[in-house]
Amino acid sequence: MTVRKVPDVTFRTRVRDESIEGPNPYRWQDKTTADYFGGKRVVLFSLPGAFTPTCSTYQLPDFEKLYDEFKAQGIDEIYCISVNDTFVMNAWGKAQGLKNVKLIPDGSGEFTRKIGMLVAKDNLGFGMRSWRYAAVIDNGIVERWFEEEGFSDNCQTDPYGVSAPQNILANLKAGEAVAA
Ligand code: BEZ
Repeated sequence: MTVRKVPDVTFRTRVRDESIEGPNPYRWQDKTTADYFGGKRVVLFSLPGAFTPTCSTYQLPDFEKLYDEFKAQGIDEIYCISVNDTFVMNAWGKAQGLKNVKLIPDGSGEFTRKIGMLVAKDNLGFGMRSWRYAAVIDNGIVERWFEEEGFSDNCQTDPYGVSAPQNILANLKAGEAVAA
């Protein structure tokens, strides 16, 4: 596999700020690729949408549960990215009671497009979204790549397995070379 550097992007996030009064104490905060990936070895996984069934029932909760096992494999952070805006991603994180996995809102799809994983999901009324994939990324360089089969627009199925946390963990534990 060609060594890939993750694209340089600025993400528009909303963060809680207790100094703000009123019912919605959040402010905008830009976060860059360097903020998320610089100097860290992380697992990034990407999915078609917040609140969707497989993502909410299996993929995100399983990464959350297996966090300590990933840490034991030398992973500093686990990031979940989706082509959804920060309001949706924050609401999803709250609904999931996340403590470990951090959510990255790629609302405009720029990161997903530049990493080559943007697909149409117009068949579901979703517009442009991410194909399911995951990666181990060391200081911004893709070390291992896990992409579901059948990358395509308006795919009628939703393959899920290669990018499941159990598979990535097994790969890390086995110390295998890149899964391209
Ligand atoms: C799911 O995660 O189950 C799902 C994802 C995209 C579209 C429909 C369902």
